[in-house]
Amino acid sequence: SVVARIAVIGGDGIGPEVVEAGIRVLEVAVRPEPSLELEFERFPWGCEYYLEQGRMMPKDALETLSGFDALYLGAVGWPSVPDHVSLWGLLLPIRRGFDQYVNLRPVRLLRGVQSPLAEPGKLDLVVVRENTEGEYSDAGGRLHRGTPHEIAVQETVFTRRGVERIVRYAYEEAKKRRGLLTGATKSNGISITMPFFDEIFREVGEEFPEVEASLMHADALAARLVLAPEAFDVVVGSNLLGDILSEITAAACGAIGIAPSANLNPTGEHPSLFEPIHGSAPDIAGKGVANPSGAIWAASLMLEHLGHEAAAARVLVALEETLAEGVKTRDLGGEAGTEEFTDEVVRRLLP
Ligand code: NAD
Ligand code: IPM
Repeated sequence: SVVARIAVIGGDGIGPEVVEAGIRVLEVAVRPEPSLELEFERFPWGCEYYLEQGRMMPKDALETLSGFDALYLGAVGWPSVPDHVSLWGLLLPIRRGFDQYVNLRPVRLLRGVQSPLAEPGKLDLVVVRENTEGEYSDAGGRLHRGTPHEIAVQETVFTRRGVERIVRYAYEEAKKRRGLLTGATKSNGISITMPFFDEIFREVGEEFPEVEASLMHADALAARLVLAPEAFDVVVGSNLLGDILSEITAAACGAIGIAPSANLNPTGEHPSLFEPIHGSAPDIAGKGVANPSGAIWAASLMLEHLGHEAAAARVLVALEETLAEGVKTRDLGGEAGTEEFTDEVVRRLLP
């Protein structure tokens, strides 16, 4: 049988709580498949590690992780360490170092979950977020520090290669789905990088005559995602725009605790990373009330990525059935704790 080796980085706050829930689900989900064995190795990296070691993860962390088939992450960030230090010390270097240039964020209104929108319609879409460049750059600096004239400047970097590959991935994704693609832009205000994005979006579009593609300013798009989310199929955006739009779509599907995120290195040269979209939620950490749905859905995406579509589908069905039968965590208006919710998902996966 094939052994898939998974590196687990629980991280901070509710991160470890939700990934342990996901691991329990994964373990039962693969039982009916004798050809597949999962092996988990846990790495205690994060803000506590930082306070002891002065780094978020060891110097050779990427080398260590490169031998795994997939990476499973909870969340990074805790009030004891500035967020830009913790995130640039752990999650962002993995996304970049492993060239995980696609951040895929699918959402669907699962049965039993109430959308905060009055008329969500048939909400089923995927945000394709650029994950290695754009607004997330370390180029810049601060001038005139300590004076009233202080200036902070940070470069946004769009490369032709970077934009082309994410846009092409999004067209491919749209082709596999309903054939609708929306490019998130802001070329009315951001006058150099965003028109460049638009230009490449249109150029690549010529290769996909079967996809109905259009560009929308991200502010207007944010409003449309709230007013008429059923009109969207695939939305592609830069690192920052994709981040914000995908959190809107997650919330539209009930709560941010539900939504998953796949950080993909499509060439397969490096491992891909799977995580919920939410953060470490310091306000509820340690209370056993976190919603593990996002982490469980991310686990399903990881199984799919490893080539185990049947097990991946079983996980999603068990998750949706649990919610549909009214077992819900507090963020969704229920009373179940993380463990009780996970028990219910696991029970539905047992033979
Ligand atoms: P957050 O996602 O941690 O929390 C926002 C709100 O949503 C909180 O009220 C929280 O309780 C709630 N929430 C989030 N996930 C939930 C879940 N699974 N179940 C129930 N409720 C949930 O966002 P934040 O407060 O902006 O960030 C907290 C920390 O997490 C920061 O350090 C931030 O940088 C970090 N962060 C990390 C990631 C990541 O690792 N990918 C993502 C987002 C934020
Ligand atoms: C996410 C988070 C991160 C991001 C932050 C914590 C740096 O919001 O995973 O979406 O913006 O990528």
